[in-house]
Amino acid sequence: MRKIPILIPIPIPLLILLLLPILLSSCTPARASDLDARLQTIIEANHLTPLQSTPQVSADKIALGQYLFFDKELSGNRDVSCATCHQPLVDTVDHLPLPIGSGGIGVAPHRRMGPGKPLVARNTPALFDLGQPEWRTMFWDARVEQLDDGSLTARTSQGPVELPPGLENVVAVQALFPPSARAEMRGFKGDPMRDSPGDVDIFGRANEIAKFQDNDIPAIWGGLWRRIIAIPEYMDLLQKAYPDTPVEQMGPQHLVNAIAAFQIDAYTFPQSPWDRYLAGERRALSTEAKQGALLFYGRAGCSVCHSGNLMTDQRMHNIAAPQIGPGKQPAIEHRDYGRSLITRKDEDIFGFRTPPLRNVTLTAPYMHNGAYDDLESVIRHHMNPARALADYDVMHLPPEVRQRTWISESLNQAMLDRLDPLLQVPADLSDNEMDQLLAFLEALTDPAAKDLRKTIPQRVPSGLPVSDDPAVMRAFLQDKPFVRHP
Ligand code: HEC
Ligand code: HEC
Repeated sequence: MRKIPILIPIPIPLLILLLLPILLSSCTPARASDLDARLQTIIEANHLTPLQSTPQVSADKIALGQYLFFDKELSGNRDVSCATCHQPLVDTVDHLPLPIGSGGIGVAPHRRMGPGKPLVARNTPALFDLGQPEWRTMFWDARVEQLDDGSLTARTSQGPVELPPGLENVVAVQALFPPSARAEMRGFKGDPMRDSPGDVDIFGRANEIAKFQDNDIPAIWGGLWRRIIAIPEYMDLLQKAYPDTPVEQMGPQHLVNAIAAFQIDAYTFPQSPWDRYLAGERRALSTEAKQGALLFYGRAGCSVCHSGNLMTDQRMHNIAAPQIGPGKQPAIEHRDYGRSLITRKDEDIFGFRTPPLRNVTLTAPYMHNGAYDDLESVIRHHMNPARALADYDVMHLPPEVRQRTWISESLNQAMLDRLDPLLQVPADLSDNEMDQLLAFLEALTDPAAKDLRKTIPQRVPSGLPVSDDPAVMRAFLQDKPFVRHP
C-alpha cells in the first residue's frame, strides 16, 4: 500500500493556524520588536539620551557672534574668516584633507594654496552640536580643556596659555586660537614658524599682529580687539549684546563668547533619526540601522571609545591613522605626534581625540588629517590598521597634500607598535555587518544639517567680502587705495 503523506488530510486553514506562531515569530514586526528590546537595554546601560536643543541666548549676542565668525577682520591679512575653513556651504568643514588658510585662494572645497604659503597640519572638524553640556575638550589633541573643578585651560606645545577672564565655555576658549595660528588666520611673511615683521594685509597695510609669539594670546587679541572697536558698528553690536557692561570694561572674551554662542545656535541639530529613536520614535530607524547600532554598542566595539551622547569619550587614542601632510613640527617633518606634543608624555604619542560622530556622513574626509575619503575605509582601518596602512594609497590625495606626504614603513611600524589596546574591532566583520554599521552612521545625520545657507550673513561690519571667491575679492579691492608697505 502506498503511504499517504501525513499533511494531506489536514485542511489548509487548520495548517496555517497550526503554523501561525512560527510564521509570526519569523516575520519583520516581531524581529523588529526584538531588536528594539535589545537596543533598549543597550541605551539604558549606556545612559544614552537624545541631544539637547540649544539654550536660550539673546539674539543680539548671536548676531555679534555671527558677524565675527564671517568677518575677515579677525585675520592678520584680512583675507580669512572662520568660515573660510568652516564653510557653511559645505557642512561647516572644507572637504579638504588639510585646510588652506592665510594667503589661500578660492572657496572650499576648491580652495588652493597661495604661493609660498603652508598647509595647515590637521583636518578641519565640523562645528555640530557644540552646545551640548558634555563638551569639555576642543581640538584633535584636546589642548583646550575644562578641568574637573570647572576651570578652563589651554596649552600649546610651548606650554600653558594665559587666558582672559570671563570665558563661558570650551568653545569660547577655542575661538581664541585660530587667529593666533599663522597658517590659519594670523598670516606671516617668509618662514611661517618665525616672528614675521613686514607682513602686510590685502590692502598693503602692516599686519600688526604678525610680530608676536605664537602663544602670546593676550598680545594677539589685544591687537584684534583694537581692530574691532575701531569699527563703530561693532561698538553698537557689543553694547547690544552685553547691555549691562560698558564697552570700556569689555575685552576679547566678549568677542569669543559671542562667537561660541553663534556656533552653538546655528549648528546644533538634535533631530537625527538616532536622536528621534532615543526619544522613543521606534520607526525613526530602519532595521538595518538598528542592527548597526547593536554592532556599534556590541560586537564591533565602537562605543568603547565613541561613547556617551556625543559618541566620543573625549580621550586620546592611537589607532594608527596614516600620517599624511606636513606634520606639526618643522623640525620633524611629515610626523604628527598628536597629544604628546602637548603633554610630552610617551604614552600620548600618536594619540588623537576620538571624534564625535553626529552628522559624520556630511563631513568627509576623515581622521585628524583627512586621510580617508569615505566611511567604509575608516571602518576598515579600525578593523585592521596594519593592513590599512600597508594598502594606503596616497594617489587619491590632492597634489599639494601628496607632495607633502612621506610615509615610511618604520613610521607605520612605530604607530602599530603603540596601537591602543582598546581598539578591538573584529577584523572579520562581514560585508553585511559593514552595511549595517554604515546605515547606523547614516542615521546619525540630521536632515536639517544638510543646508546651512541661512547661517551666512549678507555682509559684515568691516565691509570686507564675506565670500572667498577670488573674483569677489578682486572686485572689492579694485577701487581701494593700495598702500604698499615699505
Ligand atoms: C585655516 C582653517 C581654519 C580656520 C580659518 C578656522 N578653523 Fe577652526 N579648526 C580648523 C582646524 C584644522 C581645526 C583642528 C585643529 C586641531 O585640532 O589641531 C579646527 C578646530 C576648530 C574647533 C574645534 C572643534 C572640536 O571638535 O574640537 C572649533 C570649535 C573651531 N575650529 C572653530 C573655529 C572658529 C570660531 C574660527 C574663527 C575664529 C575658526 N575655527 C577658524 C581649521 C580652521
Ligand atoms: C580605541 C578607540 C576607538 C574605537 C574602539 C573606535 N574608534 Fe573610531 N576613532 C577613534 C579615534 C581616536 C579616531 C581618530 C583617529 C585619528 O584621526 O588619528 C577615530 C575615527 C573614527 C571616525 C572618523 C570620524 C571623523 O570625523 O574623522 C569614524 C567614522 C569612526 N572612528 C567610527 C568608528 C566605528 C564605526 C567604530 C567601530 C567599528 C570605531 N570607530 C571604533 C577611536 C576609536
